[in-house]
Amino acid sequence: MLQDNFGRQFYYLRLSITDVCNFKCDYCLPDGYQKPDTPTPELSLSEIGDIARAFAALGTKKIRITGGEPALRKDLPDIIELCKSTPGIESVAITTNGYRLPQYIDSWVNAGLDRLNVSIDSLDPKMFQAITGHDRLQEIMQGIKQAETIGLSSIKVNTVLMKQFNGHQLQQYLNWIKHQPITLRFIELMQTGDNLTFFNDNHIAGSGIKQQLIEQGWSPILRSKSAGPAEEFQHPDYQGRVGLIMPYSKDFCDSCNRLRVSSSGQLHLCLFGEQGLPLRHLCQHDDPEALQQQIIEYVKQKKVSHFLQQGETGATKHLAMIGG
Ligand code: GTP
Ligand code: 5AD
Ligand code: SF4
Repeated sequence: MLQDNFGRQFYYLRLSITDVCNFKCDYCLPDGYQKPDTPTPELSLSEIGDIARAFAALGTKKIRITGGEPALRKDLPDIIELCKSTPGIESVAITTNGYRLPQYIDSWVNAGLDRLNVSIDSLDPKMFQAITGHDRLQEIMQGIKQAETIGLSSIKVNTVLMKQFNGHQLQQYLNWIKHQPITLRFIELMQTGDNLTFFNDNHIAGSGIKQQLIEQGWSPILRSKSAGPAEEFQHPDYQGRVGLIMPYSKDFCDSCNRLRVSSSGQLHLCLFGEQGLPLRHLCQHDDPEALQQQIIEYVKQKKVSHFLQQGETGATKHLAMIGG
């Protein structure tokens, strides 16, 4: 099992397969994806296979495929299948903006997808378009219904509540999950290198949302320490659950259980604060142990908390770089 110097264990890999995204979320890529002058090629299927096998050999049980927008890669079903067939990997998940979900979801599930997280920043089509730059809410909702119909057992919806946009729409979201077995997660807006002004104007503390939930009869679900950083809540009258991801809260990093690999094969020990550590040069050699050893060594460098004080942004310009 991969373990850092503070006793945290990592059995969950977030693997970004592209940093390209077709949405323009105001807090992430407000001007859309800008192609760099010299783009680094994305990891190939064979390199992804090497990385998945190395992490699995070190105890990783779950791989979440992220982006950018992972659905923009044509070989996504092959990637899902490859991850799922890697010995030791029990669960393959994806985080997507839901673009073309109705067309794609069957092929992903057939390839072995176990879990689906979709970002939906408003249930109001106009607000959705204002935030993401795309009029796709209906299509995404249809995709979610389809995922439920084909029996996908874990569906989560991610929402970033923002003062000047959807901050007043909490109740609308809660009404929606009254009869939906979905986990709705409110992610606190995080400050990145690119969004400082937006962050200052729009950040809403998760503690206020937690207070509102408790006042409405939601109760915290006790979760094991290995369950990751979301705090979850349930309510006897609701089929769905609520999760709060509050990265600015005290001790958030103590429960960190994940590592990230970028689409160019850099290992990121955290969402914030570092450039990434190269793994790609150790792929496609006949020496899987060297790749594993390098990962073990890197993980020892993980700091107790990279989370930056408000005002600092570190190396992360936006979260599309490393899949959130
Ligand atoms: P599960 O695997 O279902 O538990 O979901 P997840 O929260 O790991 O995955 P998802 O991609 O849906 O994450 C939602 C968002 O929460 C991420 O994109 C980040 O914005 C935020 N988040 C997740 N993990 C971390 C973390 O370790 N640190 C910080 N600061 N934010 C995180
Ligand atoms: N703050 C909070 N959440 C963010 N995401 C992307 N950028 C940010 C940010 N600055 C979230 C998206 C998506 C997930 C992959 O990351 O809303 O749900
Ligand atoms: Fe794309 Fe996700 Fe960033 Fe939105 S938050 S622009 S969907 S990468």
